[in-house]
Amino acid sequence: MSETTARKFPLLPMLGHTKGKRSAVTCALKCDNACASEVCNTSENGYFRDIASATLSRRAALGFGAAGALAVVLGSAVTSAESASAAGLSAAAKEGFAKSKLQFTPIAAVDASVDAVTVPDGFTWQPVIRWGDPIFADAPAFDIANQTAAAQEKQFGYNNDYTDILEIPGSKGRRAVLFANHEYTNETIMFPATMPAGQVRAVGAAAHGLSVVELERKNKNKPWSYVKGAGLNRRFLNSTAYELTGPVAGSPLVRTVQDPAGRTIKGTLGNCSGGTTPWGTILSGEENFNGYFVAKGTSAADKRYGLGANPTARQWELDDPRWDTRNPGYENEANRFGWIVEVDPFDPTSTPKKHSSLGRFKHEGANVIVAKSGHVVAYSGDDERFDYLYKFVSAGKYIEGDRKHNMTLLSEGNLYVAKFTGNSPAAEITGVGNVPADGAFDGIGQWLPLVVDGASAVPGMSVEEVLVYTRLAADKVGPTKMDRCEDVEPSLLTGKVYVACTNNSNRGVGANEAATEMNPRNQNRDGHIVEITETGDQTSTTFSWNLLMVCGDPAQGDVTYFSGFPVDKVSPISCPDNLAFDSVGNLWISTDGAPSGIGKADGLFKVTVAGKDRGKVEQFLAVPRDGETCGPIIHDDERTVFVSVQHPGEDGSFGAQVSFFPDYVAEGTTPAPGAVRAPRPAVIQVFRG
Ligand code: FEO
Ligand code: CA
Ligand code: CA
Repeated sequence: MSETTARKFPLLPMLGHTKGKRSAVTCALKCDNACASEVCNTSENGYFRDIASATLSRRAALGFGAAGALAVVLGSAVTSAESASAAGLSAAAKEGFAKSKLQFTPIAAVDASVDAVTVPDGFTWQPVIRWGDPIFADAPAFDIANQTAAAQEKQFGYNNDYTDILEIPGSKGRRAVLFANHEYTNETIMFPATMPAGQVRAVGAAAHGLSVVELERKNKNKPWSYVKGAGLNRRFLNSTAYELTGPVAGSPLVRTVQDPAGRTIKGTLGNCSGGTTPWGTILSGEENFNGYFVAKGTSAADKRYGLGANPTARQWELDDPRWDTRNPGYENEANRFGWIVEVDPFDPTSTPKKHSSLGRFKHEGANVIVAKSGHVVAYSGDDERFDYLYKFVSAGKYIEGDRKHNMTLLSEGNLYVAKFTGNSPAAEITGVGNVPADGAFDGIGQWLPLVVDGASAVPGMSVEEVLVYTRLAADKVGPTKMDRCEDVEPSLLTGKVYVACTNNSNRGVGANEAATEMNPRNQNRDGHIVEITETGDQTSTTFSWNLLMVCGDPAQGDVTYFSGFPVDKVSPISCPDNLAFDSVGNLWISTDGAPSGIGKADGLFKVTVAGKDRGKVEQFLAVPRDGETCGPIIHDDERTVFVSVQHPGEDGSFGAQVSFFPDYVAEGTTPAPGAVRAPRPAVIQVFRG
C-alpha cells in the first residue's frame, strides 16, 4: 500500500442509509461502518424470551482524598441512593425532583442545515476550549494550515465526547479541572489536501486520546476559561502507558513483543462516553477500537468484535506494526483495547488504568454508584446492534475519604450481563411501538453471572477468556439482545438505572431477532430509554424494569410513548445517547440522530422522570450542522450547562467547509483576509446572559 493512498477519502457504504441527519462520513470514521456490516452477534440466545459543594453537578459526584497539593478530605460525598437525601443536597432535592433553578422555555427543533448553536431565550453560549487550543506553556498557537504532530501533542484534541468539570477543592468555585476524551478524527476537514500523508497520520493520531485542562473564572457568576500552562494540564497520547489491572493483567492473551509482561498498554482509542466516580476519577469507554486495527478477520473473536482485514480508515498500520495484528508479535494487540479506562485528573503524574474486571467490549462508558452495602457498582453498555448490558460489582467496599483505596475498587469484582423478561403476551408487541394492554412496557430481569469471586462462571472459558472475549462469553449464558446500549446512568437520587438504547435498524429484519417488550420496535429508528429498578441493594442479581420512553416525533406520525405524558406536549426526540442528571433528579439526554425524515439537528433534552410530569421532554439546545451533542454537564445550581460538540461540519472538506463552529464571524462582517477557517469541535458552556 503506498503512501499516497492514505489520504483517499474512506468509502462510504452508509451513504443513503443513515438515520436522521447522521452523516455517512461519521459512520465511516467513528464506527467503522458498523451498521453496514452483518450483525456480529449471531448467537441464538436472544430467543429466551459531593464533593460537598452543592454547586457541582451531582453526576460529578465526588470525594477527593490525597492528590498531591490538592489534598482534601470531603465529608459528605453523594454516593448512593440511600445516602443521597442525607448527604448535603438542598432541601428541595430531599423532597425529590424539586423545581430546578435552571428554568427555560424549550426551543423548537432546529433544521439540520443550520450552522449555529441554538439555546433558549435568555441564554447565551461560548466555548470553553476548542480543538487545537494550546494547553501547555510551550504549546504553539493553533495554525490549521500548518499543524504538526509535535504541536498537536500539546494542544486540545479532536472530537471531544465524554466531558466533566470538577471543582478544585479549596478554590472557592474559581478553579476547576476539565476532562474530555477525543473519540476520533476527520482528516478530510482537518488538514489541507496538500499535507503529506505521513504528516496527516501523525497529527491525526496526536489528536486522539484524552485531555485534562484546568479552568478558572472570576467568580461563580462568570463563565469559565481554560488556563494555558496550568499544573494539572495533561494530554494522553498513543504513547501514554496505561496499567492493565485485574485478572487479565499478565495474561498470555494480552502479551505482545513490546509488552511481554502483558501489563502495560500504550494508548487509548475510540473513547466515547464515560463517567465520574464518587472518588473523583474519570472513567472513559474504549468503544470502536476495532476500526484502528487490521486483522485476519477469520477467528470467532475477530468476527464478534468487528475486526477485519481491510486497511483502516487512517492507515496507522503504515507507521507502526502494532496496528496490524497479522504481524508477528502483535497478534494480541487488539485485545489491549476495548476496556474501561480510569484517569485521576487531579494527579498529572498518575498512571492511568485499564480495568479488565469490567470486561472487554465496545464500552460506551461506565457509571458508578455505591450500593447500600458499600460495594461499588458500575453499569456499562455495549454499543452494537443486538449486544448487551453489563454490571460490575466490586469485591471491596467504598471507604469515604480514602481515595487511594477507592481507586483500587474497579480492579476486582463480579461481572454480570442482563437478561430482561417482559410481562405482556408476545402478541401484544406489535413491533411499531404500541403500548401493551397492561399499559406498560415492563417486566423483570436477572443479572447473569460471567465472573464471580475471581472465577469464571461461564462453562468452558477461563476467567481471562471471559474478560478478554466478553461478548463470546456472554453469548453462552443467554442475555437479552439490546438495541445498542449507549450511556447507562444510575440516578443518585433514586438508584434507578437509565439505559439509552439509541436505535437498531436491523431489529426484525431478515433472520435478526424481532421486537420484544424491552426493545419493542422493528427497524428501531428512534430508540428508547429503559428504566431499571434493582431488587433491594444495587448489588442485587434481580431487577424490575420498564420503558421510560419510546422516542420519535409524534407530530410526524411516529408511534411513541412517554410514560403516559401527552405526546403532543413533548419535544420530539430521537436516538438517545449520553445521559446526565441535574441536582434535583431530572434526566438530561443528548442525542445522536433526529427523528428520520424531518432533517433536524441533534440536541440536548431535559426529561422529568417522576411526579405528574413524568415523561415530559423539553429541548434545551441544538448543535450546529452535522454536529453531535455529547458529554452534557448540568450545573443547574449555577444555571449553566456544558456540552461537547462533536464532528461539526463532518460532511465538508478542507477547501469547502460546511460549518465554522465555534468561531463564527459576526453578521455583517467578513473573515480576515487569508484566514483559513474550519469547524473546531469544542466544549461549550451555555448560561444565562
Ligand atoms: Fe461513540 Fe456509542 O457512541
Ligand atoms: Ca407489560
Ligand atoms: Ca455515544
